[in-house]
Amino acid sequence: MCGIVGYVGNKKAIDVLISGLKNLEYRGYDSSGVALIDTNSIEIIKSVGKIKNLEDKLKDKNLDKFNIGLAHTRWATHGEASLVNAHPHTIGNIVIVHNGIIENAKELKNELINEGIEFNSETDTEVVAALINKYLENDIIKTISKVMNTIKGSYALGIMVKGINDKLYVAKKDSPLVIGIGEDENFFASDICAINMYTNKFVFLDDYDIAEISKNSVNYYSNGNKVDKKVDTIDIDLNSKSKNGYPHYMLKEINEEPTVLEKTLKPYLEDFSSIPDLTNYDEIHIVACGSAMYAGMIGKNLFEEKANIKSTCEVASEYRYKNNIYTNKTLVILISQSGETADTIAALKKAKELGQDTLAIVNVKTSTIARLADKVVFIEAGEEIAVATTKAYILQVAVISLLALKLAYNKKLIDNIDTYLEEFKTIPKLVKNVIDRENDYKKIAKEIKDNENVFFIGRRYDYAMCLEGSLKLKEVSYIHSEAYPSGELKHGTISLIDKGIPVFCILTDDELYEKSISNIVEVESRGAKTIIISKKSLKQNRKLEICVDDVSQFVIPLLVVPVLQLIAYHTAVDRGCDVDKPKNLAKSVTVE
Ligand code: G6P
Repeated sequence: MCGIVGYVGNKKAIDVLISGLKNLEYRGYDSSGVALIDTNSIEIIKSVGKIKNLEDKLKDKNLDKFNIGLAHTRWATHGEASLVNAHPHTIGNIVIVHNGIIENAKELKNELINEGIEFNSETDTEVVAALINKYLENDIIKTISKVMNTIKGSYALGIMVKGINDKLYVAKKDSPLVIGIGEDENFFASDICAINMYTNKFVFLDDYDIAEISKNSVNYYSNGNKVDKKVDTIDIDLNSKSKNGYPHYMLKEINEEPTVLEKTLKPYLEDFSSIPDLTNYDEIHIVACGSAMYAGMIGKNLFEEKANIKSTCEVASEYRYKNNIYTNKTLVILISQSGETADTIAALKKAKELGQDTLAIVNVKTSTIARLADKVVFIEAGEEIAVATTKAYILQVAVISLLALKLAYNKKLIDNIDTYLEEFKTIPKLVKNVIDRENDYKKIAKEIKDNENVFFIGRRYDYAMCLEGSLKLKEVSYIHSEAYPSGELKHGTISLIDKGIPVFCILTDDELYEKSISNIVEVESRGAKTIIISKKSLKQNRKLEICVDDVSQFVIPLLVVPVLQLIAYHTAVDRGCDVDKPKNLAKSVTVE
C-alpha cells in the first residue's frame, strides 16, 4: 500500500511533505520518512509508527532551507515495520520512495548481491534503488526506463538523484500517481488529497509513464518517449477534514449518513431515468473487497429476489484469478469507495479485457476505477477519513438497491414503484432517527466490551448485514467476531457457543422469520447472550434488543447497519482502541 508525496518549488519542502503525509496516512501508518536535498546536502529522516512520531523527530532539526523533497508513509509488505525498512531507501546516488510490490525482487536481489551490492533492509524497494544506481547514466529517463523493463509488479516510484538538486523523477505501473501543477512549484503524490490544498491542476499518470519534475516544468515520457499529458482542473471541498466537534472521524462520518444519503439519492429519485437500466443483461457479477463486497452481497440478494436475475458476489482477489464464466450478456459491477483497491482494479481490467460490460459504484471521482469502468454511478460520501468505512458503505448499499429496484420495475416484477420511491425519500430521516439513539448502542457496547469472541447470525439479507456488522466490530475493537448464516452455525461453530457469549441476531426477513427464531433459540439454549436487531413488526421484546422501523427489503439494511456501526464504534471506544486508525489496517489497499 503506502503513500508517497514529493515537492519542488520555493516553499519549505518539509511543511508540504508532512501535510501531504498526514493526508496519505489512510494508506498505511507503520512507518514514515522524508528525504530533502539542496546543493550541498541530503537529509533523510525516518520514524516507526504514525506520522506524529516523525514530526516529533523533526522538532529539533532545522530543515527550512530545503525546497525539494520526497516522503513516504508505509504499510509493511516486505519486511517488518522497523526503522531500517522505512522509506526513503538509499543506494549509491539514488534515494527512493515506493508504493507497490516488486514481484521479482528476490531474484534481482540475489543477482545484485552476487555483483557485490550490499542491502540494508528487507524491502523490495531497495532493489529498485540498487538497479537505478547500477544503470545510472546522464540520461536519467533512459536509466529509469531500463529499470522498468527489468522489474515486475506494481509501483509508484518517487526518485531523487544525488547531485541533481533541482529535479525529482517519478514512474508508475499499477499503483496510482498524480502530478500537481503549481506556479513556480510542482508536486507528485499517490492521491490528490495530499496536495490539493496547494493546487487544483492535476495530471494523472498512466502505466509505464515517467515524469521529470522541476520547479517550472514537468516533462512526461511514456515507454521512454516524450509525450504530452492532459491537465485536469479539480476543485475539492477542503472543509471535510475537520472532525466537526466529534471525538473521532468514524463517529462524525456515521453522523453524516443522513446528509450524504440525501445528496446521493435525491438526483436519482427526482429523475428515475438517470439510474442505469440493466434490462439488457441476463447475469450480474458483483466484485469488490471488504465492506464494499458486503454491500455487494445485499445487492446480489436484491437482484436475485426482486429483479429475478442471476447474480454472484465475490471478493476481487479471488475473482481476478478465476475462470469466470460469462454469458454474452453479463454485467460486471465493481464497488469501491476509493476506486484504488488493487484487486478490484485488476478484476475490472480483466473483465474489460474479456469484453464484458462494466459498471462501477465509486466514491472518489478522480480514481482509477472511475476512469476505467464503462459506466459509473457515483456515491456522494465526500471524503471518508476513518479507516473503517461507514458512510460510503451505506451509500453503496443505497445505490445498488436503487439499481435492483429499477431493474425489478423495468422487468414488471413490481408495480407500485411510487410507493418505493416515496420510501427511499424517507431514508435520510429514518437513518437519523436510528443514529440518534446513542444510549442504546452504548448500553450494548458495555455488554460486549469484555468478551473476546462474538458471533453474528442471520439469513439472506440479514446474513449479508451480519457480515458487515461483524467486520466493523472486529476491525475497530479487536474483538474476534464471526458472522454465520443462521442455519449453518450448527455445522460446527455452535461448539464455540458457551454461557454468556454474545450472539447478534438480525431479524428483518418476514419470509424466514420462523426459521431465524429457531436458530436464535438454539444458541440461547446453549447459554448465549443474544442481542436482537429486529424490525418493529418482528419485535421480540428481549432485554437486549434494538428495533428499527418497518420498511421494505430495499431499505432495511440502511437502518440496521448504522446500528451495528455504532455498537462497533462505542465498543472500540470503551476498549480504548485507536478507532480511526486500527492496527495493521489501511483505508485503501493498493497492493494485492
Ligand atoms: C479496506 C478498508 C475497507 C474497505 C476495503 C475496500 O480494507 O479498510 O473499509 O471496505 O478496503 O475498499 P474500497 O475503497 O475498494 O471500497
